[in-house]
This record gives sequence, structure tokens and C-alpha cells, in this order.
Amino acid sequence: MPSNPTKILLLTTLMSGVLVSVSSNSWLGAWMGLEINLMSFIPLMSNVKNMYNTEASLKYFIVQALASATLLFMVVMKTLTENLFTMEGTAYTPMIICTPLLLKSGAAPLHWWFPGVMEGLSWENCALLMTVQKAAPLMLMSYLIEINTFTLSIILLSTIVGSIGGLNQTSMRKILTYSSINHTGWMLTALAISENMWVVYFMIYSTLALTVVSAIKLSGVSFINQTMMTNKETVLMKFMMFTSLLSLGGLPPFLGFLPKWIVIQAMIANNMAPLATIVVVTSLITLYYYLKISYSSFMILNTEPKWNLSSHKNKKTKNITALSLSSISLLGMMASTIMTNIN
Ligand SMILES: *[C@@H]1O[C@H](CO)[C@@H](O)[C@H](O)[C@H]1NC(C)=O
Repeated sequence: MPSNPTKILLLTTLMSGVLVSVSSNSWLGAWMGLEINLMSFIPLMSNVKNMYNTEASLKYFIVQALASATLLFMVVMKTLTENLFTMEGTAYTPMIICTPLLLKSGAAPLHWWFPGVMEGLSWENCALLMTVQKAAPLMLMSYLIEINTFTLSIILLSTIVGSIGGLNQTSMRKILTYSSINHTGWMLTALAISENMWVVYFMIYSTLALTVVSAIKLSGVSFINQTMMTNKETVLMKFMMFTSLLSLGGLPPFLGFLPKWIVIQAMIANNMAPLATIVVVTSLITLYYYLKISYSSFMILNTEPKWNLSSHKNKKTKNITALSLSSISLLGMMASTIMTNIN
């Protein structure tokens, strides 16, 4: 929680925007919630100390305003062209209303703004953009989504772009962005099957994204070549950073494997085995380069510069947060396995 009153106010209205949006019973109310949410996030992004912030917030504003305007237009068109008093709509209205929401949440063919915006933001705003800002559009999509060619191609493109796009990236923010695009695809799969499964996936994904961001922020690293340097104080941070990254990538003993497991099982139970196959292959590509980064940073290149000593003693509370979050991500799945077998 920030101590700045403006930030507290804006965070409150940001959350209320999400709540207005997900709890409204008309599309106009949903649009209003999205707009409140956007108008609170824009001032949160600005920071006089960083020149990339202006570019990022302008890009974000233009894209999101385009999406909101399109959503409003599509909703009005729906009420004008369809009969209001019989519930039947045309077959393509769900897709048409889904499209601006996909743009807002950054799913694959409409993800182009996402890496550029993330690159210019502080880590707190990156975390907000990856988690909270996705809640409202995805929740609204759950009213419309059905398993058809459109949805399947969005899911496939998101997972493929997410895994291929992260290859050879050197910026931590880019890696997290592509991971977020990929998880949007997985969340759409979960959403198309059942809403509760989406909630479980979203909660676990948000926790893990927060874990990775807090570990990265604590070690003050923005690019992966900076993770190679270490000294005795930062070994634990390196460990936290890479175990939580692997957890986000869905490597089995960690918590990140749990939502992946649930979704794969549901896909197979719903006759979506071909989709499950492709999606699992893309996650293998991801795990390949995540492991490559972790291995080279842990074992191959381990330089210990004496002059790079920055003391982390004054970061005690952040240390505790990152430590507890990353122990959830390390042991969460084992804990839940024990809990379900307890009776
Ligand atoms: C995409 O999500 C799946 C499921 O959680 C995961 O296995 C895979 O590693 C992720 N890929 C990226 C780029 O994050």
C-alpha cells in the first residue's frame, strides 16, 4: 500500500471500476466501469522521474480509449439491430463484442501495444497491468464466450505468440509481458469451459505474477544479464526470482503447475485434446528457455564483483513479502495436495 494519498484514492477508484464493471447488469454499466478503471489507471502511471512513462501512458490511453469506444459502439449497434424483447441475437454478435474486450486484455492478435507499454512502467504498474486490469474484460467475456473457431484461434494465437515471443528476450518486463499474453490464452480456455475454473486460474496466476514482480523488484534487475552478477546477499533473491519464474511457467513441483493441470484435464474431458496438445507443446518451448535462463544464471555464469555491494538491510519488509510469496509459489501445490488427501 502506498503512503501517497493520491495513489490511495486512485487505487480505490481503480478497484471500484472493476467492481462496477463485473457487477453491472447492462452493457452500458459494464462500459462505465471499464472507463472509471481506465481513468484511474492513467494518472497512476505517471512519474516525473522516468521519461518512458509518458510514452507508455499515452499508448495505453489511446489503445484503451479505442477499445472502449468500439465496445460502446458495438453495444449500441446490438440494441439497434437486434430485437430487444426477444432474446435471440445474430450468431456473430458475441464475437463482435468480444473483440474490443480482447484488445483491452491484450490477447494475441491484438497484443501489439502490450510489450511497448510494459517496457515503460514501474514494476508496481506492471503488476497491476498484468493482473487487475485483466479481471474486468475477462469477466465480461465470460458472458459471451463459446467454443467456436473464433475463440479457438484466439487461444491458439495467444499461447503461440506468448511462447515464441518470449524467446531470446533479454528484458524481464518483455518476458513477463509475453507470459501474460500466454496466460490470457489459457484463461480464455478456462473461461470457455467453466467460470469457476477461470477464477481459480486467475487467482493463482495473479499471486504468481505478484511473486515474480516482487522478487525482481527486490533484486533491482531489469535485464537477464544483470542476474548473472551476484554476491552472498543476493543468492536468496536469485533463488526466489528463478523459482517463481519457473512456477509461472508451470514447472511441476511448483504452484504454477496446478492451474495448468486443472485446465489440461478439463480440456481433455471436453473433447479438446487437439487444442490441449498444441497448447502443451507451446508451454514446453517456454519451459525450455526459462530453464535456459535459470541454468545459465545459477550455474554457468556466477561472477562475484566486490564493488557491486548494495546493502539490502533496509529492505526488510519487502524482503518478508517476497519471501512469503515465493514460499507460497514453491510449496503451494504440495500443500494443496496434502490438504486434499487429508481425510
Ligand atoms: C503459458 O502458460 C502455461 C500454463 O500455465 C505454462 O506452462 C507456460 O510456460 C506459459 N508460457 C509462458 C510464455 O509464460
